[in-house]
Amino acid sequence: MTQLANLGLYGLGTMGSALALNILDNGFALHVANRSADVTAEFVAEAGDLAAKLTSHASLADMARNMPAPRAIILMVPAGNPVESSIEELCDLLEPGDTIIDAGNTDFHDTRRRTALVEGRGLTFIGMGVSGGEEGARHGPSIMVGGTPQAWAGIRPVIEAIAAKFNGEACADHLGPDGAGHFVKTVHNGIEYADMQMISELYGIMRYGQGMSPAEIGARFESWDTGALQSYLVEITGKVLQAVDSKTGAPAVDVILDRAGQKGTGRWTLIEALRLGQSASAIEAAVAARSWSSEKQTRIDGEAILSGTRTAVDLSEQDYADALLAARIIAYAQGFRLLAAASEEYNWSLDFARISEIWRAGCIIRSALLDDISAAFRGEMPKGQLVFAPAFAERLKATVPALRRVVAAAVLNGHPVPACASALSFIDTLSMARGTTDLIQAQRDFFGMHGFERIDGGAGHHGPWWD
Ligand code: 6PG
Repeated sequence: MTQLANLGLYGLGTMGSALALNILDNGFALHVANRSADVTAEFVAEAGDLAAKLTSHASLADMARNMPAPRAIILMVPAGNPVESSIEELCDLLEPGDTIIDAGNTDFHDTRRRTALVEGRGLTFIGMGVSGGEEGARHGPSIMVGGTPQAWAGIRPVIEAIAAKFNGEACADHLGPDGAGHFVKTVHNGIEYADMQMISELYGIMRYGQGMSPAEIGARFESWDTGALQSYLVEITGKVLQAVDSKTGAPAVDVILDRAGQKGTGRWTLIEALRLGQSASAIEAAVAARSWSSEKQTRIDGEAILSGTRTAVDLSEQDYADALLAARIIAYAQGFRLLAAASEEYNWSLDFARISEIWRAGCIIRSALLDDISAAFRGEMPKGQLVFAPAFAERLKATVPALRRVVAAAVLNGHPVPACASALSFIDTLSMARGTTDLIQAQRDFFGMHGFERIDGGAGHHGPWWD
């Protein structure tokens, strides 16, 4: 039986300290350290009764030197240089049998490289995606593990104990080797970006096209949270839109500058999608929308120069709800197609049913839909396409007409809906046996003699323009 490692955690920022308390709460002893020792002292002081199982150290090196072997050290430091330098330091201090766990949002290409580097030194490396924000880290996140099965066996009891539970089952699993866990977390975030963008697009139409107040729209989201749209993001949207700014008495959303931040996971999803020749158009639209949002002054100038106008729309509440459901299904479908492509490229053998299961609780995109998605992956799914699974094909047939009405009304009246529109175009493209790339092929042949396949057989044909 694999011996359970002694646990250490480095990095006591918001997420690190929440995860540390979660580990302690579950009865495990824990060593901790932080770049600045003051933070460690503060953490110990605030840990209350939980401090009994806590050993603090002045630095990462001190912790590595003083922990009994076998050691498993969880890094909760920002992606990039802080992770890189912590790993370099640990490689010189740890011994075979010890494990380094990067639990941040790391680009999976870095995780693959680091796995080779660390394991080349005789140590074990785990790239672990953790979703759920501070609340999740403290009380139960969804955890996506990448590494060897032996590495997983060494930490499994702890990870399953601290993870969120769905029907009593831990929302954590070993998903594949090296970068698999971090990539699945990255795609989770890509879907998160798309879902957030689609929600905000519908908010925009209701607000500026139908004159509804944030509180009225918030009440709609609150009521949707009990049906097919039930999800964490719909729930918090309902709460956010009904909140009031204590300083001004205005709706809280109205005092927030409309410039969205992004740390990189949405962009990484997209970069990998493009690299693998996949369409993640709804995620692309969401990433682009955040980029445009950061150009606040350009948009202020643009409204004046281009006479931007938004006119009224008249859509039913059901149309909005159905449109969001259809768009959300499509965003998930794009995410799973990308996971499938990466799984093949990197030989990960990802289990899509299992991934949807561990996303059912704890993570940011948790939703009622994920239970149906896992059932679909365990059932009949023609060609591995989520949108072809009977339950989803039926749902799309029922809800895409509403998505079409919402996108059409938005477009006609000047309300930008990039993510919803690209979701719709994706499904329209996928449901058309003969598309229009015959013309692209003709153009390519015309200007570059690239050749094309004929419908009656054979490749390398040229058009009459070359006769
Ligand atoms: C999660 C979140 C978390 C983080 C995002 C935010 O799953 O818990 O996705 O990882 O809040 O990285 O990302 P942006 O700052 O890029 O929006």
